[in-house]
Amino acid sequence: MYKVGIITASDKGSIGQREDLSGPAIESIVLNHKNFKIEKYIIVQDDKEIIKQAMISMADKDGIHLILTTGGTGFSHRDVTPEATLEVIERRVPGIPEAMRFLSLQITPRAMLSRAEAGLRGNTLIVNMPGSPKAISEILEYTMTSIEHGLDILTGSATDCASPL
Ligand code: MTE
Repeated sequence: MYKVGIITASDKGSIGQREDLSGPAIESIVLNHKNFKIEKYIIVQDDKEIIKQAMISMADKDGIHLILTTGGTGFSHRDVTPEATLEVIERRVPGIPEAMRFLSLQITPRAMLSRAEAGLRGNTLIVNMPGSPKAISEILEYTMTSIEHGLDILTGSATDCASPL
């Protein structure tokens, strides 16, 4: 069973001025996958150090295997989730955000504005997603099976990629 941590980066969400719909959108998709369970869900402000500490604590202290972030990937000066991610990961996984943008571009050209990153810290995969629940419903399901296979390899429960699924 893989433990999932959700981090919503939202200034307004973190002080209760906006209801976070994106965290619950992630939760409902993850829960459709039997090998995943939600371990932690937090809302933080768009602050690079706070986002970094949340990621480090989930990865190193809570032993979370998959951290899904939502928000803070756009062009606003407060959008710093990708920068926080790049500072805590050890190895980049560019294929996941590439795949998300590829899929999203079929839906909206604005997908090119998401600066999402993904990468590995120890036995943890961190994946950034855009902030809207609509975007999450469009892209997260598509990535889940491949993410599970990646985690199988990362944690040593799968040793080869012979099976296409
Ligand atoms: N991806 C999908 N699938 N659907 C969307 O509606 N919105 C885009 C993009 N990616 C969108 C999407 C828009 S409008 C922006 S500005 C960027 O994600 C960044 O969003 P964020 O700042 O909320 O992370």
